[in-house]
Amino acid sequence: MRLGLLGLLYSLYALQYGLWAIAHGTHDESEDGDEHLELNARQLSLDQCNFAAQWPPGPGQLFTSQEPNTELRQMLAEIDPNRIEAIITKLVSFGTRSTLSSQTDPVRGIGAARDWIASQMHGFANTSNGRMTITTPSFVQPAGSERIPNDTVITNIMATIKGSTDPNRVYLISGHYDSRVTDVLNAIDDSPGADDDASGVAISMELARILATRNPSATVILAAVAGEEQGLFGSTFMAQQLLEQGADVQGMFTNDIVGSSTADDGTKDPFNVRLFAQGIPSSESASTVATRESIGGENDSPARELGRFSAEVATNDATNMNVRVIYREDRFLRGGDHEPFLDRGFPAARFTEPHENFAHQHQDVRVVDGVQFGDLTEFVDFEFTARVGRVNLATLWSLAQAPGTPRNLTISTSVLTNNSTLTWVPGSDVVDPNLAGFEVLWRPTTEPFWSHIIPVGSVTKTTVLLSKDNVIMGVRAVGKNGFKSPAAYPFPGP
Ligand SMILES: *[C@@H]1O[C@H](CO)[C@@H](O)[C@H](O)[C@H]1NC(C)=O
Ligand SMILES: *[C@@H]1O[C@H](CO)[C@@H](O)[C@H](O)[C@H]1NC(C)=O
Ligand SMILES: *[C@@H]1O[C@H](CO)[C@@H](O)[C@H](O)[C@H]1NC(C)=O
Ligand SMILES: *[C@@H]1O[C@H](CO)[C@@H](O)[C@H](O)[C@H]1NC(C)=O
Ligand SMILES: *[C@@H]1O[C@H](CO)[C@@H](O)[C@H](O)[C@H]1NC(C)=O
Ligand SMILES: [Zn+2]
Repeated sequence: MRLGLLGLLYSLYALQYGLWAIAHGTHDESEDGDEHLELNARQLSLDQCNFAAQWPPGPGQLFTSQEPNTELRQMLAEIDPNRIEAIITKLVSFGTRSTLSSQTDPVRGIGAARDWIASQMHGFANTSNGRMTITTPSFVQPAGSERIPNDTVITNIMATIKGSTDPNRVYLISGHYDSRVTDVLNAIDDSPGADDDASGVAISMELARILATRNPSATVILAAVAGEEQGLFGSTFMAQQLLEQGADVQGMFTNDIVGSSTADDGTKDPFNVRLFAQGIPSSESASTVATRESIGGENDSPARELGRFSAEVATNDATNMNVRVIYREDRFLRGGDHEPFLDRGFPAARFTEPHENFAHQHQDVRVVDGVQFGDLTEFVDFEFTARVGRVNLATLWSLAQAPGTPRNLTISTSVLTNNSTLTWVPGSDVVDPNLAGFEVLWRPTTEPFWSHIIPVGSVTKTTVLLSKDNVIMGVRAVGKNGFKSPAAYPFPGP
């Protein structure tokens, strides 16, 4: 609300200023040197804003973000920083959670951590009237790769709430419960992993607790996986299992290193979280990529639309956070559990804190020249982690309550015309009783986020009086309950 309103006011101001400037036939009447420069800089940005809002002109209303409803606000308020703290403290208490550590010791090692997470999840499922089921899919990762010296059992923990109306459509939130120190093969020494990634697991668990008593329309999964530090093994297994089960995964987020907002120089940035969203899909064939590039679609992959969606529904006064979408699959030199999902054609993205302190990641716990190294609980900000949890819950719930993202969307290229004909099919295998209709979204090609909405009603084909050459268009579904899906992006069609 806060940002939406600011943005709107700014747009109105820019629009007014632009009209004023046109009416006066001038951009600046100031005589004062310094003030003049300042004014010019401001006018430049206002003019750029005007360009965005005014060219090309086209149909529809200015884009405004969907706001959380009463039920969602209530759920967001239930996220408890004290519980986040208790979960992270408990996970750190297992000493090490190296994937190569003991699977059988009842108090130390990854096995003890796995069993504790699973028992907590079972406790949440007990409150769900049978809606939530807990599974612990397990497999042996054979010795061979550099980071797996011995055959190693890897176990994921999944809390699944079956969707009430569209059970095959799945949205998933995940964190990894394994940890590491400097030597990724060290299974013995303390490896607290408070930020990386007990923080992400705490979000999965806190969301599982809150969602256990709710009734999402599509299926939601809250997961904790292992083997991330050894090579994304748990997540790869999870993505492959879902693919083989024929699950229609329309959104996946990994929370990995979401526990601190403090940079290595001590500055704090507590109201921003980064969301890394891939451009050209790693799953697309060379010929599809060639088509995508030929139509300027490199910024409209399913992962980018998912990122835009999260920024829209989770940047507000109920989360008190700004979702900062980064147009990149992940940070340089790093990877994460969203990648196996992307590789299989599932839209996926990664939440990470705004600044990382590398002295607190993947490091032996030690003091060097008075500087504490190691991923210790004392460096975690539980209020910040709770807010990232709210971003996840706002995103997940808004996805699960909306109709599915439209599919097989095409934009007609059969004739040269100044208007644009779009055709699609609804985003679900079932007839969705909540589906109210669809909206065309558009923006100038140079804009990062949607700028206009055109409601088109309960149709699967529409013609917009706007040239497809000059804008990016998308289509999203609208629920009778007010929730809207992420946008789909059209490829050329008949
Ligand atoms: C869940 O409920 C069952 C049956 O009431 C009980 O046996 C079990 O201990 C409960 N589990 C947890 C983790 O609370
Ligand atoms: C694991 O592999 C290493 C290196 O091959 C070997 O030295 C070690 O004994 C093995 N550990 C177990 C528990 O089998
Ligand atoms: C959507 O497109 C795919 C691939 O072209 C096709 O296999 C599928 O049948 C289409 N689905 C519908 C509902 O038209
Ligand atoms: C498209 O519009 C331009 C002017 O905006 C006009 O010159 C042109 O003839 C139109 N093309 C068609 C196919 O109608
Ligand atoms: C679409 O564009 C063509 C040519 O520019 C025009 O003749 C036609 O009326 C437009 N409108 C519709 C709804 O197709
Ligand atoms: Zn991690």
